[in-house]
Amino acid sequence: SARIAVLISGTGRNLQALIEACADGRIDGHIVCVLSNRADAAGLERAQQVGIATEVLSHRDYESREAFDTAMIARLLSHTPDIVVMAGFMRILTPAFIAAFAGRMLNIHPSLLPRHPGLRTHEAVLAAGERKHGATVHFVTEELDGGPLIIQDELIVRADDDVMTLAQRVMSGIELKIYPQAVAWMARGELELAGRQVRFKGQILAGPLGR
Ligand code: GAR
Repeated sequence: SARIAVLISGTGRNLQALIEACADGRIDGHIVCVLSNRADAAGLERAQQVGIATEVLSHRDYESREAFDTAMIARLLSHTPDIVVMAGFMRILTPAFIAAFAGRMLNIHPSLLPRHPGLRTHEAVLAAGERKHGATVHFVTEELDGGPLIIQDELIVRADDDVMTLAQRVMSGIELKIYPQAVAWMARGELELAGRQVRFKGQILAGPLGR
């Protein structure tokens, strides 16, 4: 059973979906720790409720990004994770952190990457008048929101959508489904990062998988 560390900064709905998928066997793994850079992240309570170890490390207590990441690496390594899952973790990572977990670190992003990296993706989709929106799970590399894509799913933007309705539909209809799926593949050893390419069950992916 794979040892999974989850990094959060907030509500933890993706974390909750991962907790449930581990509990019901969809993911052959268990969450060994949940680390938050914010003490008030609601996701911490979700972890504590089911007896998962939590770690809080405030970036404000460190004088540089490097010092913060060095401390995070040490905390995470003490739980010997096989997989590091970013679930709404809102800090930019240093190259040293990414190197420490290279090929073992996933992120979910609320857009159809490579479209709309960064923050406020729902606003960006509406402002651009785009017809399609969605979410993407990708390997984390040094490029911000730019690592190789694993799985992506989309929805059609409605004329009456606003930021709230889009965020809600992307979360419940897409994120909470594709992240447990990607982590399940990862836990079974079915996903591999080979340079800039993703191998799924040994085959190089030409593009992200669908759901
Ligand atoms: C999710 O929508 C996730 O995709 C996004 O933050 C939200 C976290 O919600 N992540 C990013 O924007 C990463 N830059 P959650 O804490 O309820 O899972």
